[in-house]
Amino acid sequence: MPHTMRHSRLALATLAILALTPIAATAQDTSAPHLEKRGAVTQLIVDGNPFVMLGGELHNSSSSSLEYMKPLWPRLAALPLNTVLTPISWELVEPTEGHYDFALIDGLISQAREQHVRIVFLWLAAWKNGVSSYPPVWVKQNTERFPHAILNGSLSTTLSTLASVSTALREADAKAFTAVMHHIKEADNRDHTVIMMQVENEVGTLTDTRDHSADANRAFASAVPSELPKYLKAHRETLNPELRELWLAHGEKTSGTWAEIFGDSSRADEIFMAWNYAHYVQAVTAAGKAAYNLPMYVNTWLGGGDGTPGSYPSGGPQPRVIDIWKSAGTALDFYAPDLYQPNFAEWANQYHRPDNPLFMPETNGGTAGAAWVFYAVGEHAALGFCPFAIDAAFAPDAAHTTEPSLVDFIKGTTDLGNSYTAINAIAPILLEQQAKGNVHGFNLTKQHPNVEFTMNNYSVQISLDQIFGYQSDTGYGLVMMTGNEEKTGQAEFLGVGKGFRVIITSRTPGKHIGFATIDDGKYEDGKWIPARRLNGDETDQGGAWRFDPRAIHTEKATLYRY
Ligand code: DGJ
Repeated sequence: MPHTMRHSRLALATLAILALTPIAATAQDTSAPHLEKRGAVTQLIVDGNPFVMLGGELHNSSSSSLEYMKPLWPRLAALPLNTVLTPISWELVEPTEGHYDFALIDGLISQAREQHVRIVFLWLAAWKNGVSSYPPVWVKQNTERFPHAILNGSLSTTLSTLASVSTALREADAKAFTAVMHHIKEADNRDHTVIMMQVENEVGTLTDTRDHSADANRAFASAVPSELPKYLKAHRETLNPELRELWLAHGEKTSGTWAEIFGDSSRADEIFMAWNYAHYVQAVTAAGKAAYNLPMYVNTWLGGGDGTPGSYPSGGPQPRVIDIWKSAGTALDFYAPDLYQPNFAEWANQYHRPDNPLFMPETNGGTAGAAWVFYAVGEHAALGFCPFAIDAAFAPDAAHTTEPSLVDFIKGTTDLGNSYTAINAIAPILLEQQAKGNVHGFNLTKQHPNVEFTMNNYSVQISLDQIFGYQSDTGYGLVMMTGNEEKTGQAEFLGVGKGFRVIITSRTPGKHIGFATIDDGKYEDGKWIPARRLNGDETDQGGAWRFDPRAIHTEKATLYRY
C-alpha cells in the first residue's frame, strides 16, 4: 500500500474525497503540501487532497526529548489528532556554529509516522513570546555581532531580546533554517509527514513600543523603505481600516520618515517594529522555502485594540499591521492568531481575509475548543484548529495538575476528541462544500442563543435546542447544504453537532416547505449509514431539525414543498 494511503487517520476518508470532489488529484500525488485556492476558500492540500487539520500544539519543552514523547504519540493519535504542532529549536539544531544536529527532527518525524500523524514544526529561533530564549548561547552572548534591543532605556538584565534590525542575526537564523528545510526535504519529501512550518513564535517587542538601540533609532529617523508606501498605495481600498485611517489622517504620504508618514505616536512605533520583524522573518522564510517549499506562517500574541504596543509584542502581525508584514515580502503564506480571547469570533473575522486563510496554531482546548472547532472549520473554512498544551492530558504529571485552566482543559479533552471524531468522519464532504461556500458553523450560548444565514434559496435559523419548557445551555455544530438540488429537485442538508435546532424557510415569497426526512446516522468509509428516522418529539412534531444536547449527532435532512 502506498505510504500516502497508510499515513493519515483520514485514509479511508481520502478514498471518499476522490469520489466526491471533481478535482484533479490522485492519492499518489507527489507534490509537496501546499495551499490552493479552491472555489470560495483557500485549502491546505496534502498528497493531492484537501486536508483539514484537527490538531494540537505541544507544551514548549515536550519535544526536546524523544524518550518523553514516545508514550505520548499513541495517545495523541487516539484523541484523535491528525496533526501535532511541535517546536524545534535553534539552540538544539545548531548548538555550535555551523554544526547541525538533526537527530531530534528525524526522531520526531519517525515517531509521528508510526502513529500516522502529521507534523507542523515550529521554528523557535531568534524570538519566542517576544524575547530571545531559544537562540544558541553562541548567539545570545555575542552582543557585538548580534546586538540586543534597548527597551525602556537599557538592556534587560534578565531577558535577552535580540534586535530585529540586525542583519547578522537574520543571516545566521536564515542559514540555520535553510539547513533545517534542506534536511526535512531529504527526510520527508516522499512521505509528507511534515506539512507546514511556523517561523519564529509570537514575535514583537515587549515592555516598550519599539527598540531604541542606536541602529533602530537610526532606521526610525530615516526614510520608510519605498516598498511600504508603494504597497499602501496599491492596496489603498483593501487595507485594514485602522491602518488606512492612520495613513490617510497623516496625508496619505508616499515618502518620508516613519513619524512623517504615520505620526509621532506609539502607532508609528508599532508599524516600524512590524516592518523590521516582517523584513527579517520574510527573509528567513524565503531562504527556507528555497530549500523546501512548504506552507509557512507566523503566529501572533493578540493584543491590538486600544492596548499599548509593548503590553503585547509590538510589531507582531496584529490585524492592523498585517498589511505592513505583506508589504515587506511574499514568502509568508499567512498570518495566524493565537486565539485564547473570549471574543473568538471577532478575532477570527479579522484574520480571515480574502488574502489570508484562518488557522489557529494555538487556542483553548477542552470543552471550549470542542465547540469553537465547529465554528472555525464551518464558518471560516479554517485550515486547522490546534489547542495549545495538547499533551497536558497525557503527560506523566497530568493527574497532579492544579492550575485551573489546565484542569478544565484536561477534563474537556474527551469533548474535544468527540468533536474531532465527528468532523473527521465528514471531512471529505466538509472540504468539498467549503469550496462551494455552502457551510456554516456556530457556537451558541445563553448570551448568543441564535444565528441566522442564507443558503442558496433558503433562510436558515439556528438556535439553542428547546422542547417542552427545557432549553439547552450550549449548542455547537455546523450545517451544510449537500446534493445538487437543481439536478435532483431535492434539497438536502447535512448537520453535525449537539444542543441546537434548525428551522429552514424558503426565500421565495409564498413558497412553503417542510422537512421531508430527518435521519441520524454516520459516515463510514465515506458512505452514509442511516440509523433512526427522526420524527415526533425528536423533530418537535416536524417543526424543527433537532440535535440532542447530550452527544454529538450527525444528521441528514431533506425538504418537501407544499
Ligand atoms: C503562547 C506561546 O506562543 C506558547 O508558546 C506558550 O508560551 C503559550 N503562550 C502559553 O500560554
